[in-house]
Amino acid sequence: MKSSNYESKYPDETGRIPYSAEENAVWRDLLDRQLGLLEGRACTPWINALGEMNFPKDRVPQLKDVSQVLREHTGWSVAPVPALIGFTEFFGLLANRQFPVATFIRRREDFDYLQEPDIFHEVFGHTPPLTDARYAAFVEAYGQAGLAADPKDHAMLARLFWFTAEFGLVNTDKGIRAYGAGLMSSPGELRHAVDSDLPLRKPFDPVEALRTPYRIDIYQPIYYVIDSFDDLFDLANADLLGYIAEARRLGMHEPLFEPKAAAG
Ligand SMILES: [Fe+2]
Repeated sequence: MKSSNYESKYPDETGRIPYSAEENAVWRDLLDRQLGLLEGRACTPWINALGEMNFPKDRVPQLKDVSQVLREHTGWSVAPVPALIGFTEFFGLLANRQFPVATFIRRREDFDYLQEPDIFHEVFGHTPPLTDARYAAFVEAYGQAGLAADPKDHAMLARLFWFTAEFGLVNTDKGIRAYGAGLMSSPGELRHAVDSDLPLRKPFDPVEALRTPYRIDIYQPIYYVIDSFDDLFDLANADLLGYIAEARRLGMHEPLFEPKAAAG
C-alpha cells in the first residue's frame, strides 16, 4: 500500500487540534468552491444536513464541535485516526457510532485532487448526512456487518460503502442528485456524476453493488441510485451478510474500466 505524504494531527489537552493560517485558508477555499457547486447537484436532505453542521467558513472545524452536533442528532461522533486504518478498526468505530477522521488537510499543491482522504473529505463530505437517522443507522449497521463478516469478505463490503456513502446518487423529482462523500468533496467528480452523460447510473441494488469492481483513482464509470435515504434505512435492517453470500455465489461483474497499469 502506498504510504501517506501526510500525517494526522492530534488534539491537545484542551481537545483542540492546531491548524496553521495556511491550513485554515485551504479549508476556506475548498469550502467556498464546493458550496458554489451544490445547488442542483446535492440532494436536499444533504444540503439541509450541511446547514445543521454549520461549519466555520474561515478555519478547519474542530472535531469536538463536529461531534457535538452529531451527538445531538443521532448519537454519533468523530474520532481522529491516522490517514489510513485497517478494516477491523474502521468497522469497529462505525459499529460504535464513531466516524474515523484523518485530521490533516491537503496542501495547496494538492488542492484539486488528493487520493487519500483528508479532513475536508471526511468532515465536509461524510459528516452532514450522519445527522440523518436513516443514513446514520445504515452506517452503524454496516460497521456491525463488517465486524461479523469473514475477513475474506471485507473487500466486498468495502464496495457497498463505496457505492453508497462514498459515491451514492439519489433520485429526486428534480432529477439525479448526489449524497456520497467522494462526490461532495470533489468538484470534478460531482459534475461528472450528476451532469455528465458518460457514466452509467443504475437503480441501487445491494447485491449488484457488492459485485461491482471500482478504482479509486478515476471518475467512476458507474453509480448506483437510491430513491431516498429510506432505502439506506431499509438496508440497515437487512441481512447484509446474506447479501454478501449471494454476491459471492453470483460472482463479480466485469470492470467497466481498464485495469490499472502496474507500477513501474
Ligand atoms: Fe470517504
